[in-house]
Amino acid sequence: MRDQAERLREIISSIKNYKDEENRTGMLTTKPGSRVIAITSGKGGVGKTNFTVNLGIKFAQMGMRVVIIDADLGLANVDVVMGKMSKYNLSDVINSNKNILEILEEGYEGVKFVSGGSGVQELVKLNKTQLVDLLMKLGRLDEEADIILIDTGAGLSENVISFVHAAREVILVTTPEPTSITDAYALIKTITYKDKKKNIKVVVNRADNAAEAFNILDKLNVVTQKFLGVKLHKLGYILNDACVTKAVKIQQPFVLSFARSEASRNMNDIAITLMDNKELNPSSVSGIKMFINKLTSLFN
Ligand SMILES: Nc1ncnc2c1ncn2[C@@H]1O[C@H](COP(=O)(O)OP(=O)(O)O)[C@@H](O)[C@H]1O
Ligand SMILES: [Mg+2]
Repeated sequence: MRDQAERLREIISSIKNYKDEENRTGMLTTKPGSRVIAITSGKGGVGKTNFTVNLGIKFAQMGMRVVIIDADLGLANVDVVMGKMSKYNLSDVINSNKNILEILEEGYEGVKFVSGGSGVQELVKLNKTQLVDLLMKLGRLDEEADIILIDTGAGLSENVISFVHAAREVILVTTPEPTSITDAYALIKTITYKDKKKNIKVVVNRADNAAEAFNILDKLNVVTQKFLGVKLHKLGYILNDACVTKAVKIQQPFVLSFARSEASRNMNDIAITLMDNKELNPSSVSGIKMFINKLTSLFN
């Protein structure tokens, strides 16, 4: 197997080619790109995918054009929660002549999604021409989406960390379980080791009540401020709600099948908070091109 660092150096030089190509074709616009948000967690099974899909649907209901990229290498299941299998994944963009818009699957409320599938792993194996080609293709998402949500895997793997670093905004999901909280802390520590100013928004999922959730958010914030010098953004909470499990069983997002449930109300609050967020201001919206650019440069 080739040395990964060597492979990644190749990627960097491909990015330079890509930029040249952008300049040559006039693709480099000043127009702001999509708002890219990575959704991650320290521990698996905390509700990341359900959070991502339902948030995407809420955004769509607010009139935003939403694309979800399922980048979980281990347990990619955005399509399962959406109740619609995707025919293609990113590897089809890499290996065939398909463009990204052709392989997007359309789920509820017009939310589009694409499974990273084996394509995410293939990313590090691409030759320069393929990579430049892929970047050009993915760049089209900036015109097609207002918001791109990336469902990453859990934990401290290089892939997860890179996705998190590359995205302008990060939502970290934890549950009230001590193991989930300590894993969340470990992930915050790893992320902020490289980037102290990273904007990390934390959500407590499956909370028993609001007080429990805010207690966790407060405590986590105290600890990260004290030991890491990092201030977290307390985004909100979602109650532990049997409707979520019921919705998963019938493969329909809970904000649609149980629109009046507690979890749906919580999701609504979170979507509104994010919409109100000042970061929507165009100068800080980085776009998918910037995301990929950063993602690959991180391996330098
Ligand atoms: N707020 C919630 N209330 C009740 N159950 C939940 C909630 N969020 C998630 N779950 C349960 O947790 C399971 C795992 O969620 P999932 O989104 O697949 O997690 P992850 O993507 O982090 O692995 C879901 O199938 C559901 O049964
Ligand atoms: Mg998942």
